[in-house]
Amino acid sequence: MKLTIIGSGYVGLTTGACFADVGHHVVCVDNDEQKVKTLLEGKIPIYEPGLEALVKKNVAARRLRFTSSTEEGVEHGEVLFIAVPTPPQADGSVDLSFIEKVAREIAQYLESYRVIVDKSTVPVKTGERVAQTIRRYAKPGVEFDVVSNPEFLREGSAVEDLMKPDRIVIGGNSDRALAIMQKVYEPFMAPVLVTDINSAELIKHAANSFLALKISYINAISEICEAAGADVIKVADGIGADKRIGRDFLSAGLGYGGSCFPKDIAAFIAISEQLGSPFTLLKEVERINARQIDRFVDSIREALWLLKDKRLAVWGLSFKPNTDDVRSSVAVNLVERLVAEGADVVVYDPKAMEKARGLPFADRIRFAASAMEAAQDAEALIIATEWPEFAGVDLAELREKMRTPLIFDGRNIFDPSAATSFGFQYRGIGRGVVPERV
Ligand code: UDX
Repeated sequence: MKLTIIGSGYVGLTTGACFADVGHHVVCVDNDEQKVKTLLEGKIPIYEPGLEALVKKNVAARRLRFTSSTEEGVEHGEVLFIAVPTPPQADGSVDLSFIEKVAREIAQYLESYRVIVDKSTVPVKTGERVAQTIRRYAKPGVEFDVVSNPEFLREGSAVEDLMKPDRIVIGGNSDRALAIMQKVYEPFMAPVLVTDINSAELIKHAANSFLALKISYINAISEICEAAGADVIKVADGIGADKRIGRDFLSAGLGYGGSCFPKDIAAFIAISEQLGSPFTLLKEVERINARQIDRFVDSIREALWLLKDKRLAVWGLSFKPNTDDVRSSVAVNLVERLVAEGADVVVYDPKAMEKARGLPFADRIRFAASAMEAAQDAEALIIATEWPEFAGVDLAELREKMRTPLIFDGRNIFDPSAATSFGFQYRGIGRGVVPERV
């Protein structure tokens, strides 16, 4: 099938590459000419495992191409996927201006029937608005349908999530469009859930907020574990073994970050309020999330007294492992706070250093070439992102490098008793049964 993706960011680019890989003929459109140029040169602007190879393979097979012309995209695809950003606004609601602009552009070039699919994460009822806008700006009589098809991919495993999805949600009110969408997804052999547009849009916000709720739930438990003398990992294992609960998304830590959860939770709160049904539970989810990092910084301060001029090593800058994305990263927020208190911070991240060099406080921190280099002479080591290579370090060597043996493990990558056996004073999240407290 001929498909067009408008917006070649995380979701758009990965979706386009995966569609091409299952045999569709895909055009990816982006209004950023520089980005299109980079992509045409075979370079990928983001780090995402497997993506570069997939793009190269499908460009070579002539199933995937890039353009900055929306007109070309609208002409090419029988299905047009909108995958443009929906950034947050100051009040938590979503800025839908990119979606609205693309809807008008599509309308301008629409000559014959197209299925227009909203893939960006949007508040419920956006599909209705998109259809209204296209109808208003399109030539009279031209046919089209609007469908909602939310994307559930995670950064760091985007290709795998797209190729082997748990489910595909297609929300539409027209049989013609739904039949075409079923054909688009046939090669993926995944369960397809067909709904109306509003329900599909709600599924995305409800899914993300439920996952965030799980994280805040276990983070709230972690605080109780610290107070009571219990181990949150054991508690998570114990409750997660119940199939009705599940172990996923029960890793206590510094809280959720990234370009999705914080934004989507705020947006869901905002739309629920606009609809007159305020979702107050999610405010508590946000509050617990913010409290995790506050508590963590407090514990560092409590152990080190003043942070000014203290040599602190921070491992991890990306918002989670296997990505170079530092947007709304809790690790970055943490470094910023330490710097604000005058600490002498040396950071290391396996992939996100380049992106981090663009951060506003980058000139006030030092970047090390390796985890061990960052730890050299450090008065404390702070683990902010759980990159697998960190968990595998030689603790004896680490102990040698550091000036004072303090570990603040914001992602629970170390076993407390192993760390203490190497002479470290160790503090994780929710690990209240550690024999020696920092
Ligand atoms: C999320 C959703 O998982 C995905 O379905 C949606 O399409 C986009 O938003 P993403 O933001 O890429 O994906 O990452 P995810 O793996 O969900 O992690 C989000 C944040 O939660 C990260 O900061 C991560 O560190 C944190 N997290 C996750 C925890 O703190 N504990 C956990 O148990 C899981």
